[in-house]
Amino acid sequence: MDIAALRAAGARHLIQSELLSDVVPAIDGPVFVRADGAEIFDADDRAYLDFNSGQMCSALGHNHPRVTEAVRAGLGTLTHASSVYFNAPQLRLAARLAETFDAPLSRSLFIQSGADSNEAALLFARRATGRTGIGALHLSFHGVVFRFESIAARRFLSH
Ligand SMILES: Cc1ncc(COP(=O)(O)O)c(C=O)c1O
Repeated sequence: MDIAALRAAGARHLIQSELLSDVVPAIDGPVFVRADGAEIFDADDRAYLDFNSGQMCSALGHNHPRVTEAVRAGLGTLTHASSVYFNAPQLRLAARLAETFDAPLSRSLFIQSGADSNEAALLFARRATGRTGIGALHLSFHGVVFRFESIAARRFLSH
């Protein structure tokens, strides 16, 4: 694969994040193509041990067969359902989560991203306490949304 062409496309067509740009700017870094288990491969087919994958949706590694099959089955059954109405898979998961956690954590809110989750946590905290102050680590990262850019005291976008 032509890495120079891929990088040029990134420079031309992506809105660049400044996150971690002090480590290796994306424009000079690897261009990832595929992954398997704990390894992720760049456009030169060089393998990297992917410590980042454990962070969120691929905590069991890339392409875990049971996870892949569950996602495939989910997409084949109900690709999207509005949060306005109940849907059966969500209700089943909420009930299982309620069995796992101690009271009063018996209700779930399903949202899309880490930024959404943090926004919701702030809403809950503000409603529960009536307070508006928010403490955060300097230069932390809690999602590419306006509120967290000010909380974390860092810019997410370079342009
Ligand atoms: C602590 C923390 N909060 C929020 C986020 C943002 O998650 P998302 O990109 O899903 O909005 C991340 C992502 O790495 C994170 O590590």
